[in-house]
Parts: sequence; C-alpha cells; structure tokens
Amino acid sequence: MAIEKRSLRDVFGTFVTGVTVITTIDLNGKIHGCTANSFSSVSLEPPLVLWSQAKAARSYDAFADGPRFAVNILSEAQREVSDRFASDANDKFSGVEWSPGAGGVPILKGVCAHIECRKVANYPGGDHTIFLGEVEAVFKSGLPPLVFAAGRYLMATTLSL
Ligand SMILES: Cc1cc2nc3c(=O)[nH]c(=O)nc-3n(C[C@H](O)[C@H](O)[C@H](O)COP(=O)(O)O)c2cc1C
Repeated sequence: MAIEKRSLRDVFGTFVTGVTVITTIDLNGKIHGCTANSFSSVSLEPPLVLWSQAKAARSYDAFADGPRFAVNILSEAQREVSDRFASDANDKFSGVEWSPGAGGVPILKGVCAHIECRKVANYPGGDHTIFLGEVEAVFKSGLPPLVFAAGRYLMATTLSL
C-alpha cells in the first residue's frame, strides 16, 4: 500500500535535527547555497559526511557536478539565514557575511561549526541524490545550534537530572 506523502512528511518531521546551509562554487565561479537538514555524519576513519538534495533544486547541478562542498551548521541566531537559503531568492548571499574557503567554496559567518569537504560520491536516492564528502577541514565556534522539527525552529535546552 502506498504511503501518503503528507503522512511521510509528518513522520519524517518528528526526527529533530540541526539546520545547515550547504555551499559550493560551480565551474563558472558562481556560488550556491541550500538549506538542508539531511546532513549526517558517517565515518570517523576516514572522516565522511553525507547530505541529500532534491533533484528538482535549482542548485542541484552545481552540487552534483562540483568537486567540493561546505556544511555550515547554523547557530540559534541564524533563522533568517536558514529561510533565505531555503527560498528562491536570486542572490541568497546578499547581506550574508561569508568568506571563501578551500577552492572558493563559501563559508558563512556566525555559524556553530563548518565542515569543508571534497566530494567523493553521488548515490541515487529516489527524487534526491545523496552526496558523500570526505572532511578536509573543520571549525567549531561554541555558539548554540539552531534546531528544527515538524517544520519549526527550536532552541536546544540541556535537561538536568
Ligand atoms: C529546515 C529546512 C531543511 C531543508 N532540508 C533540505 C534537504 O536536506 N535537502 C533538500 O534538497 N532541500 C532541503 N530543504 C529545501 C531547500 O532548502 C529549498 O528547496 C531551497 O529552495 C533549494 O534551493 P535552490 O532551489 O535554490 O537550489 C530544506 C528546507 C528547510 C527550511
């Protein structure tokens, strides 16, 4: 029996995640960014991470063809950054502070952490493609993370015993 898309979305949404903006630079030197909560750590040795992107996304070709990407893990103060990179704005980077990392891939300011990757594989994943990256550089700021579940932004709170 086919599972309804709405039910799938609702159930997937119960899995609480952080929020990332994945960035890259294409062969023409144009920079791209896409809000994604499909990011996951995969392996420590070698250091690997993955994320998946809808094939329908406008930036899909840049990520599918590009040799590098960076995972920018957003901080609590970056809801607007998440919304902007999830929108269909033409210049998502305008008004956003960033600097070029390895290969010119944009690294956003004010994040919790960033992870610079060399892309090692594209795997088929239905209407998405799974991108596997080998980690080449990392940075952690200590800022609190932005949290996402059921279509809403949340704050992380530590539970004390
Ligand atoms: C919190 C959040 C998480 C998202 N996660 C993903 C994701 O993991 N993969 C994906 O393809 N799109 C994801 N999206 C949707 C994209 O950010 C959105 O489709 C964006 O417009 C794609 O940009 P583009 O069409 O300019 O490439 C997410 C959106 C939000 C708000």
